Amino acid sequence: MKHFIGVAVLVVILTALVGLALNTLGLLPDVASLQGQYIDGLFQVHTWIIAFLFALIVGFMLYSIIVFRRKEGDESDAEHIEGNNALEITWTVVPLITVLSVAVLGANTLSKVTAVDPGAMEVKVIGQQWAWRFEYPEAGVVSDVLYLPKGQQALLEMESMDVLHSFWVPEFRVKQDLMPGSTTELRITPTEIGDYTVRCAEVCGLQHTYMLADVKVVSEGDFNTWLSAEAAIADDPVARGQKVYESYGCKACHTLDGSPLVGPSFLDSFGRTVELADGTTVLADADYFYNSIINPTSQIVAGFPPAMPQNFADQLSDQQIKDVIDFIMSLSDK
Ligand code: CUA
Repeated sequence: MKHFIGVAVLVVILTALVGLALNTLGLLPDVASLQGQYIDGLFQVHTWIIAFLFALIVGFMLYSIIVFRRKEGDESDAEHIEGNNALEITWTVVPLITVLSVAVLGANTLSKVTAVDPGAMEVKVIGQQWAWRFEYPEAGVVSDVLYLPKGQQALLEMESMDVLHSFWVPEFRVKQDLMPGSTTELRITPTEIGDYTVRCAEVCGLQHTYMLADVKVVSEGDFNTWLSAEAAIADDPVARGQKVYESYGCKACHTLDGSPLVGPSFLDSFGRTVELADGTTVLADADYFYNSIINPTSQIVAGFPPAMPQNFADQLSDQQIKDVIDFIMSLSDK
């Protein structure tokens, strides 16, 4: 009996130490969604069970190694034991009940995590090698940053344009694959205002590591301000074109103030006559810009390197290319 009390004390102390360590080490980033809070609750139950099992095994072992070690000069055999029914029934029934309880807890948590809020805001999430796009169908807004209002459930409807991707914001805890040819769903209710990052959690090709997007959780008022500003842009081809110019890297090489960078400035570029590297000249009209965007090496402007990326035909829709040309036109008074 004395030994059992000794082991029990050791197990209690070890459980407390390991459990506290696991729960205070900060193994996970701070939780920022309602769904994540349920998941963290389940995690906490698990870490305490893990701490107890660790303590039970290691506690018994440590106690036995120290207290029952061979005494000096003792050459006798240990006592032989032939099974113990009570013990075997106990160590079958107790784990069975434990595992079944964890299953019930898990199912219960899953139903909370997937709970439907009828007032949820719909956002379409489109993944492609190697970028994320977010569409707000009710407002007709497309964005490369995921804006979410705090406290409102967002229903993310996900589609992939090519291969498997996986939507994962560690602070929200939940994760969902995107599959080509079908739509998957994820529900998130953000609880903390802040900036987060979507990571792709499914190896999807060469640039998989860089398949990231910003997530901004803002107050409901800030969200509505942002959404109406974006909706205004969505109605104006020049504003749309400017957004493409800013978000697809055009501005890295083409200035708006007339100074040349890697490529010619867009200021007053529309409607003028352009000297090409091969000695010919061409009128910079809409066709010229269209061709220069989708097939940049065919018309190199004299004095500039052939540095323009050649994949804009894949990256931009026809409408986006037209919008960029409208934007370039707006920078010229001709
Ligand atoms: Cu998309 Cu990895």
